[in-house]
Amino acid sequence: AAVVEHTFNVGGMNISQLCTESVIYTANKQLPGPTIEANEGDTVVVHVVNDSPYSLSIHWHGIFQLLSGWADGAHLITDCSIQPAANFTYQFNITGQEGTLWWHAHSSLLRATVHGALIIKPRNGTAGYPFPPPYGEIPIILGEWWNKNVNDVETDAHLTGLGPAISDALTINGMPGDQTPCQGAGVYEVEVASNETYLLRIINAAVNVELFFSVSRHPFTVVAIDASYTDPYATDVIAISPGQTVDALVTTSAPPGRYYMAASVFDSKTVSFPFNTGTATGVFRYEGAPNDTAPSMPAMPSHTDVVAAGTFYWSLTGLVRPGDPPVPTAVNHSMLVEFGLEQGPCAPDQTRCQGFALVASMNRNSFQFPKNVSLLKALFDGLPAVYSEDFPVTPPPVPGIRKATSVMKVMYGDVVEVVLQSREYSGVLGTESHPIHLHGFNFFVLAQGLGPFDPTSAPSAYNLVNPQVRNTVAVPGGGWAVIRFTANNPGMWFMHCHLDAHLPLGLAMVFEVLDGPAPNMLPPPPVDYPKCY
Ligand code: C2O
Repeated sequence: AAVVEHTFNVGGMNISQLCTESVIYTANKQLPGPTIEANEGDTVVVHVVNDSPYSLSIHWHGIFQLLSGWADGAHLITDCSIQPAANFTYQFNITGQEGTLWWHAHSSLLRATVHGALIIKPRNGTAGYPFPPPYGEIPIILGEWWNKNVNDVETDAHLTGLGPAISDALTINGMPGDQTPCQGAGVYEVEVASNETYLLRIINAAVNVELFFSVSRHPFTVVAIDASYTDPYATDVIAISPGQTVDALVTTSAPPGRYYMAASVFDSKTVSFPFNTGTATGVFRYEGAPNDTAPSMPAMPSHTDVVAAGTFYWSLTGLVRPGDPPVPTAVNHSMLVEFGLEQGPCAPDQTRCQGFALVASMNRNSFQFPKNVSLLKALFDGLPAVYSEDFPVTPPPVPGIRKATSVMKVMYGDVVEVVLQSREYSGVLGTESHPIHLHGFNFFVLAQGLGPFDPTSAPSAYNLVNPQVRNTVAVPGGGWAVIRFTANNPGMWFMHCHLDAHLPLGLAMVFEVLDGPAPNMLPPPPVDYPKCY
């Protein structure tokens, strides 16, 4: 095993995009940021220097952080963010996971531009990929672009109490492509050889939109999601929710030429909420293909094609290999968590609030971040009155939303099952899928469905043999998903909607996993751990 070391200088960078000059914040003046490539078993060390005027934490999305919860990078959950002009070294081991993950800022809308791929290859000397080794690998990072400074976009969202402004474009590897209104916008182009197989490592780093992705005349074989191998799944279109990753093989067996890859929004409620309906494009160019051949566009599903998205999400099954942990069958905590958004009153500081503000909750608990201390530090130091251990395991029978820093307490090794049920409480906000992401663990997705979860009929359909394994599940609007995981890592682990707009509204909860067989399993925080001010 090796040590993979990087330095990320997060600071301003001038960029011209969509015919607009702006300053954005990135790591090492790259959009997307640097790719971290490691092998399973390696140690990753990233020195983060905060040259931006904002406080900053970086989350290693999907990394288990076994006994290294201090490095999870979740602002106010596991640390208090790196202040401007300060730095912090994140260090963690990669144990028992392979595939495509990513890293992103986890303190504000900065994640729109502070993000990059985290690629984990099989350990040297092992059997390697469970599919023929690809000729080449191509990271594809899907994103969203605002002409306005994203921190101003976020401030506006807070002032109105509504969601942030719609992005100005979708991007592929930082570039919108040539279908945007502004001529001269950058196009991501990659050269490929004929009759070879490539592994696309696709990441949805978009802030608020679920996406479809296709490559003209190049069908995919999906082999992994969220750094978990799947049974090979053939499809022309991939649906991917913010936070998720998909690894897919493509074979370059089309006639030599240029082919568009395209990303477009899936949003079942586009009619009522006109989110970015643009399409980002990139180009697959066969070696030797003349530059002037017009590429052909893939047929994209419509923005409201619930069937195309559901077919992709629900068809995937996990690849079971010898030694993989089986689905645990004895459940210690069985939870029903209803979540959604509704209209709440304007908060006093919302000077531009238009009569109401949105509030989001899980089991009618709208998550409040603690002030001036992280939950993990509060747990470690035994600080009183920072959080309460009373997160409801089922929806409370009474209406009304409580605002609290409430956590769900479990013991090391406990098996937790959560029925995630999407509800739009006021019935006026339309429906959309919510990508629910759990820090620190992968979970099995036992079943998914539309409408209300039926506790009498649903369990008989649970896949306990080869369910898909994820860290982020797209729970369909008004529908449900059942997840199960073993809490084998002490710490404070965030579970939240990965639509960034819903996080400050409270669509989140925390699992407090208390020490196991040996007390004080979690070592003390690193010496340069970002303290609160
Ligand atoms: Cu990728 Cu808590 O986030």
